[in-house]
Amino acid sequence: MKGIVLAGGSGTRLHPLTRAVSKQLLPVYDKPMIYYPLSVLMLGGIRDVLIVSTPEHLPLFRALLGDGSKLGISIDYAEQRRANGIAEALVIGAEHIGGDSVALVLGDNIFHGPGFSKMLHHHTQSVDGCVLFGYAVRDPERYGVGEVDAEGRLLSIEEKPASPRSNLAVTGLYLYDGDAVDIAKNLTPSARGELEITDVNRVYLERGKARMVNLGRGFAWLDTGTHDSLLQAGQYVQVLEQRQGVRIACLEEVAFRMGFIDADACHALGAQLSKSGYGQYLMDIAAKGTR
Ligand code: G1P
Repeated sequence: MKGIVLAGGSGTRLHPLTRAVSKQLLPVYDKPMIYYPLSVLMLGGIRDVLIVSTPEHLPLFRALLGDGSKLGISIDYAEQRRANGIAEALVIGAEHIGGDSVALVLGDNIFHGPGFSKMLHHHTQSVDGCVLFGYAVRDPERYGVGEVDAEGRLLSIEEKPASPRSNLAVTGLYLYDGDAVDIAKNLTPSARGELEITDVNRVYLERGKARMVNLGRGFAWLDTGTHDSLLQAGQYVQVLEQRQGVRIACLEEVAFRMGFIDADACHALGAQLSKSGYGQYLMDIAAKGTR
């Protein structure tokens, strides 16, 4: 399975924070936002990743993450010149996907919860159709909204409905089989002029091949779309990290625990950042040597 992180958009709701910086590079406590969705792909066992962003911001992501080899993965980059919608990432990534299955994650989505890694691994093993992840929210009208039956089959999906049929928001993590690129290529832009990911999901629904897993209570799917929610996401990470002495979405740690890099490589990455607590943490984990 291939991975795509979509880190486009102009982040207008966060101005002036995002006047000169990509939204997905803003800090969420101790690391850049994109670490969180990228860690999701890595935890799913994906080692072949494409980052899609604007021509203006791509060099910044490249400076941060390089070709991924330090993390034992491969990272490529591709441009999305205009905000033509999430589904366009599948078209832009057609060559990268190459007929394989694909996990698409939005660069501003933060997922955290017990058992998530195991759940992801399970679902990325084989995908027939599409697998979406639903999350109960107070204000579903702000999102894609899905309705499921008792077996997790998707019954309906609507983008930002005025009268939502359920309180399950469709989160920004989408697993697709090899048909997704063709489906995306055949879409027509919506009223807001975008290729909607909800329309891709609707095609799978019509084929009877769409499932949605409910992430459930106790799970955190955090918003970073406003100044308040961005700060709250950082505070969530801070509270858990300080209380437990672990780090969430620490890419080097994930690479080590997934077996993508060894303890020596993890230690060396920490040593490069040794003046920060982050670097110290990496050296400590490497010294303990337990994956
Ligand atoms: C997009 C999708 C929506 C999904 C949301 C998750 O919304 O269109 O279906 O629920 O991401 O973050 P947007 O951020 O474009 O408003």
